[in-house]
Amino acid sequence: MHLTGFVIYCPAPHTMMSWIYRRDKIRWYWHQNDYWRSIAQTLERGKFDMMFFADGWGGGNEASVRYAIQFPNHDPLLLIPYLAGFTRELGFAVTMSTTFYPPFMLARKLSTLDHITNGRIGWNIVTSFGQSEARNFGLDAMAPHDERYDRADEYMELCYQLWDSWEPDAVSMDMENGVFADPKKVHRINFRGKWFNCQGPLDVIPSPQGRPLLIQAGASERGREFAARHAECVFGAGGRWYADDLAERARRLGRDPSRIKIIWGAQPIVAESEAEAQAIERAVLERIPPEAGLSLMSSHFDIDLSKYEMDMPLERIETAAVQGILEAFKKSGRNYTLGEAARIYGRGIGMPHMVGTPRQVADQMEAMLDRLGGDGFQISPPYYAPDYYEDLVRLLIPELQRRGVFRKEYEGDTLRSYLLGS
Ligand SMILES: Cc1cc2nc3c(=O)[nH]c(=O)nc-3n(C[C@H](O)[C@H](O)[C@H](O)COP(=O)(O)O)c2cc1C
Repeated sequence: MHLTGFVIYCPAPHTMMSWIYRRDKIRWYWHQNDYWRSIAQTLERGKFDMMFFADGWGGGNEASVRYAIQFPNHDPLLLIPYLAGFTRELGFAVTMSTTFYPPFMLARKLSTLDHITNGRIGWNIVTSFGQSEARNFGLDAMAPHDERYDRADEYMELCYQLWDSWEPDAVSMDMENGVFADPKKVHRINFRGKWFNCQGPLDVIPSPQGRPLLIQAGASERGREFAARHAECVFGAGGRWYADDLAERARRLGRDPSRIKIIWGAQPIVAESEAEAQAIERAVLERIPPEAGLSLMSSHFDIDLSKYEMDMPLERIETAAVQGILEAFKKSGRNYTLGEAARIYGRGIGMPHMVGTPRQVADQMEAMLDRLGGDGFQISPPYYAPDYYEDLVRLLIPELQRRGVFRKEYEGDTLRSYLLGS
């Protein structure tokens, strides 16, 4: 089983108001470095594959400011080198957008981070979906959904060429003859595409992993095609149909489906007793204002949902933004109203809560993998992240290790090797 620790460089990632439920040790506002260091060290103690930073570049409406709904949102790219200095093995994934970063800049930053972390970096590839994000970067509007993916395919081709522009043995640093690298082994790429041009070569020497571990969460038809082509790890939305569909697409593209790990979103809540775990969940849910869930949903679907009646059927909503999550709600067969969906969204965008003792939760996690296929879980904190991950590492991880389904030590020395073996 693979486990990734989901975070956003903001006070509360998926579960609205999770920032107020804490054991009063470290405050996000005043002690940010301690906050993040404690999470990274806890995840490493728990042998998580990686600490995963989601990211976005927009937001700032009234509800998001009032309740801290994925806002404020600082830049994780600058935090990772700091955290890498306090950890030796934990992987780090950072989200970067093919819409907003020029490819050369992105390839350069990620290669540099791969050096700094000694091969522990992953890239969550997003095409972005928010109009507020577009406006922050001076665009009038986001490109249409499928075009963003077409553009991202070209973007990836360019990045691959940059990452391969140095042959692996180009650098000899031959001090006797005064030769740092062999110019015959460092190549211009002279890339000319529909959207991007780039001369190359990359100005970073080959990094420990060669390129970052490629992660993606495409859920739409076009998004799944993109994931099947490029991803080594995906965050699955849906169920077994998603795993089957991805495997089928990968095979058609000549890839081995076992080289694409599928990680499902989940929010386990574990305590010494079932009653205690249920009490924690109740306390979490009680504090979520309904309009906070609606606001996060508005941002993910890029629609102002506050102007609709709460009893309107969700079926009527269409989005060109995050289509996959909306589809998963619609495909559930539960005929949700907007209000019902908003409440579920505020708890953790529809991710399952597994609540109970370590044994009960481990049973549910194993059963879910048996049912859906896939390789593990993207764990998203339903309450204050440093406390939450400590509870998981103290209670749940030993149970999974005892069952032999989760590692006791890291094997391999890069993030890719933790996920894929080599
Ligand atoms: C676990 C998970 C993490 C995600 N993280 C981000 C993120 O950090 N930034 C972002 O813009 N989108 C993020 N997304 C959204 C995806 O990039 C993508 O837009 C979404 O899954 C919809 O894909 P689709 O357009 O193919 O339906 C995330 C999705 C999932 C499931």
